[in-house]
Amino acid sequence: MVRTTDALGMSIELKDASETRSLGIQLGRVLPAGTVLLLQGDLGSGKTSLVQGIGEGLGIRDSIESPTFTLINEYLTGRIPLYHFDLYRLEPEQTATLYPEIYWDGVEVEPGICAIEWSERLQFKPESYLEILLSYQDTGRRVEISAIGDAVIPELRIGT
Ligand SMILES: Nc1ncnc2c1ncn2[C@@H]1O[C@H](COP(=O)(O)OP(=O)(O)OP(=O)(O)O)[C@@H](O)[C@H]1O
Ligand SMILES: [Mg+2]
Repeated sequence: MVRTTDALGMSIELKDASETRSLGIQLGRVLPAGTVLLLQGDLGSGKTSLVQGIGEGLGIRDSIESPTFTLINEYLTGRIPLYHFDLYRLEPEQTATLYPEIYWDGVEVEPGICAIEWSERLQFKPESYLEILLSYQDTGRRVEISAIGDAVIPELRIGT
């Protein structure tokens, strides 16, 4: 993994799927409850792979599948809950009916990590979140992480 950091955020090269997963594992170990991850990137760019790593880092043993049909999967057996959304099949005006703010405000559910694939479909966004953009490289992928509002990009142990 090669990392570059600037004022706006961090860019990391992920040369294969195992690097995507290990980035996820690190995030799953350290991200605080209340974190919202807005994931964007073309079909197959690695969004679910990253969330699977996050689940592993949280200590969740269930296999994490993309909630393409169920829309939201909740995993409550790790360090903190993981709420995994996939908005691919929804139009922007339909995403509001999922009430995503219930999860990111953590009012009626235990606060955890809210990971939202195809987050560009959201009609409105939380005040603070990490924006995670995945893109294809010649081989592998690039991930760009930006902190919006009060969100903080955690310290990551990645070669610089
Ligand atoms: N850094 C990487 N380099 C190469 N392949 C990768 C990398 N990360 C993940 N992959 C592979 O890309 C494929 C698609 O990954 P994944 O399902 O996570 O993408 P996705 O963005 O969730 O797709 P979708 O848009 O369908 O939800 C998988 O085969 C995965 O192993
Ligand atoms: Mg996916």
